[in-house]
Amino acid sequence: MNIESRIPNEDLSEPLTFGVEAYISPEYAKAEGDRLWAKVWQHACRVEELPNVGDYIKYDIAEDSILIVRSGPERIRAFHNVCLHRGRQLVDGDGRCGPSQQFRCAFHGWRYGLDGENSFALDKDDWDGALTPDRLRLREVRLDCWGGWVWINMDADAMPLREWLEPFATMLDPFELEKMRYRWRQRVIFDCNWKTAMEAFMESYHVEGTRPQLLKYADFYTWSVAHERHSYHGFEERNAELDISSSNTIIRAGRGSDARKSIADLQVEVMETVNASTTQTFVDASLRLVDELPENTPPGEVMAHFLERAKADDAARGVIWPEIDPDHFAASGIAWNVFPNLSIQHGYTFALCYRARPHGIDPDKCVFEASVIELFPKGEEPKTEWIYAEPTEENWRSVLVQDFRNMAAVQRGMKSRAFPGMLPNPKQERPVSNFHRNLSRFMGAGAPRLLDGI
Ligand code: FES
Repeated sequence: MNIESRIPNEDLSEPLTFGVEAYISPEYAKAEGDRLWAKVWQHACRVEELPNVGDYIKYDIAEDSILIVRSGPERIRAFHNVCLHRGRQLVDGDGRCGPSQQFRCAFHGWRYGLDGENSFALDKDDWDGALTPDRLRLREVRLDCWGGWVWINMDADAMPLREWLEPFATMLDPFELEKMRYRWRQRVIFDCNWKTAMEAFMESYHVEGTRPQLLKYADFYTWSVAHERHSYHGFEERNAELDISSSNTIIRAGRGSDARKSIADLQVEVMETVNASTTQTFVDASLRLVDELPENTPPGEVMAHFLERAKADDAARGVIWPEIDPDHFAASGIAWNVFPNLSIQHGYTFALCYRARPHGIDPDKCVFEASVIELFPKGEEPKTEWIYAEPTEENWRSVLVQDFRNMAAVQRGMKSRAFPGMLPNPKQERPVSNFHRNLSRFMGAGAPRLLDGI
């Protein structure tokens, strides 16, 4: 076989493998700072986290720290979080500037405006005119917004955000994510690499092994697509009797002969065990199906009624669903993985989002965050903040804790001298292979290769 024939197909549909260096090597983790994180667009926060002029957050990634501030009613800016005097980090956490609307370095008291200009340097004349505005200005970082997130990129030559996000952005534009607000948001530090954590949410192939309690509700076989930098997957409904598109949890009829009950069972289960991927409106509408429809109503009709009622219920309370073509909705799948570290499970009025970041440059630790955003009636958005939550069922409900149990165990298992490399499912786990294909382009090593080549 010649070398050309050993390059995986563009769609990554063949059996592939790749090694574990990216997960466990301290040298690799250190190199990610320069080769990956300094080059990619990454979502740092939601716009709603910076409602007032002077509000700021500190976004840490590997060994870099970025200060993101609302500098005006219509403007958010990002700067490297470092004082130009002797390098102290300018801010130690999230916060709001005082009435002076300046950042004050806690070491020698130098001050900077929200535009990054230095406004005060103690005994400046001692430098004999060498402290020019250019020398003292905070170093700016590129920033753009999409979907209600603030995205930053440390690379001045990087492609525009919109171009980076395609085709994900075009596929999810109709969902109007920018109108959604946090319902809850939590973080925790895990004993695993950030990639180990992200990959737990790149596929649903794990549902059968990790969440056996869900199998009585539905089939979880999925299709998956690798699309340039990003990937997505959706459910493949194999029950022909249902005769409905069901790539997304919210439009799944579930198992059983009575779709009225199976839809309600699935909605209640998801709400109770995930606290995401549905809303109270959907749950309430599903529980009324047995009263509103006769027995033996075809599943397709039950689903159409369910969605119609949920939409009307939401409209009555001031939540107007985005207009999404049903075929587009079905084609968008259940979840997208946006390179490198956004995972999003989307629905008509909500989304469940995951992010994992390195914890410094320790390959065995990461900061894992999950958040739910939802469309609320205007003025009724809940007030939320990031909560550090130990990974217990009490804090995270049962489904996520099932995922969490795998993470550190995978990190430990990959270090076994007997483990030859990953074997991602060629049909259902293409997002994992695609992630490593893209990662290898930045890191210069670790690309998936054909399995028969090992
Ligand atoms: S390091 Fe900031 S004022 Fe000295």
